[in-house]
Amino acid sequence: MNYPTEVTDAVELIWGEGMLSPGGPEKVAQMLKGIDLSGSRVLDIGSGLGGVDVLLAAKYRAATVIGIDIEPHLIKSARDLAARKGLASRVIFQLVAPGRLPFADASFDLVFSKEAMLHIADKPALYVEVLRVLKPGGWFIASDWLWSEGAAESGVVHAWLSESLSTFAFTTPSAALDALIDAGFAEPTITDFRHELQEANRKEVTLLEGPARQKLAAIVGTEVAEGRFASAKGRQAALDSGDLIPCYLRGRRLS
Ligand SMILES: C[S@@+](CC[C@H](N)C(=O)[O-])C[C@H]1O[C@@H](n2cnc3c(N)ncnc32)[C@H](O)[C@@H]1O
Repeated sequence: MNYPTEVTDAVELIWGEGMLSPGGPEKVAQMLKGIDLSGSRVLDIGSGLGGVDVLLAAKYRAATVIGIDIEPHLIKSARDLAARKGLASRVIFQLVAPGRLPFADASFDLVFSKEAMLHIADKPALYVEVLRVLKPGGWFIASDWLWSEGAAESGVVHAWLSESLSTFAFTTPSAALDALIDAGFAEPTITDFRHELQEANRKEVTLLEGPARQKLAAIVGTEVAEGRFASAKGRQAALDSGDLIPCYLRGRRLS
């Protein structure tokens, strides 16, 4: 399990209710620039605690949001959040197995994913699936963590991953772009947002250097709190060295 309750409690404390990745609502706004979601049907791959999905329905007026995830306890938490927000009829969570998306062709106006594809190794197969379930004219918008050529051999990356409580499957920006093109996406773009993640990550490190560390330790225990701090610092080093390259991915299904 990549996201036991101690980890989700720790991330939520930093990034806000229902949020399981850096940046929270501000980052979602950045990702959706220029996109009108009103009345649309959205698939969110890797919905975590469901905060993003609630936001897509409540703030961005998506008609229906289907969040999928592979961890049953996250699906339960996400459903509870949607119910608390009075959105359970429009924000639906579904437990899936990794691999083929369990939806018919041309089912969604938008396929969204925030910092979840970094756990999915077969990106070419994933992008083919995303294109299949998009309606003609629909957008794929994701943020993913990619890495530089040679990052697999980087000592900075090894040091970070040895502290991390999660396991990752990275690819490079050029391989991701090729895979989007090969899958058949129109208007494919990969945009480096390293500076934004550096800033967001620094906020996490700074918070964990201060009183938040004790607050976190009181909730999740000293070991997890210290692990979270070490992992945030390791991630910062990988961002600063240029090995970790977080990117926005976009592509469109034309027909
Ligand atoms: C860093 S969390 C991000 C959660 C959410 N998108 C957010 O930003 O708050 C990554 C999520 O991806 C999920 N995940 C990992 N592999 C997956 C897969 N193959 N299909 C769907 N979800 C997956 C994890 O269980 C986790 O909830």
